Amino acid sequence: MTFAGKRYDFRDQAGDYAQLAEELAGLVKGEKDFVANAANTSALIFDALPDLNWVGFYLLKEGELVVGPFQGKPACVRIALGKGVCGTAALERKTIIVPDVDAFPGHIACDGASRSEIVVPLMNGQELLGVLDLDSPRLARFNEGDARGLEKLASVFVDSVRAAEDIG
Ligand code: SME
Repeated sequence: MTFAGKRYDFRDQAGDYAQLAEELAGLVKGEKDFVANAANTSALIFDALPDLNWVGFYLLKEGELVVGPFQGKPACVRIALGKGVCGTAALERKTIIVPDVDAFPGHIACDGASRSEIVVPLMNGQELLGVLDLDSPRLARFNEGDARGLEKLASVFVDSVRAAEDIG
């Protein structure tokens, strides 16, 4: 397989996220392996979205978040529920946009270049699987349109692995 990444400029943010969701659906089609699809999902997002320095998964394992497939610099391995942006999004089961990480109490700094962040919970129905975390070196990089677009990408990913036996 050759991956020919499409270029998105996100001037039509909703339209570009919709196309990216289709591209992701094609990429994971016919494959249910959790790690394989998580790895390709993080790589696709890292390649397609401008101004990112980290994209990846933290997966819920035995009551805490453990780093999963990602793109970027090595990151902290374990995050307790309720801690940092990831642990807060996981606990509250809602997307959190942080325009300035230095202004978020308890933010966990992994890559010193990160200035803003968005974390989307990964839900399989009522069950929390983990979170999708994106960091940017640009202040206020993420808006509500990113939240909706990334929630859609997260649901395409979860749908692809839902029947897999190796979830978690
Ligand atoms: N900043 C995150 C930790 C993970 S890294 O950004 C990769 C947090 O506060 O939860």
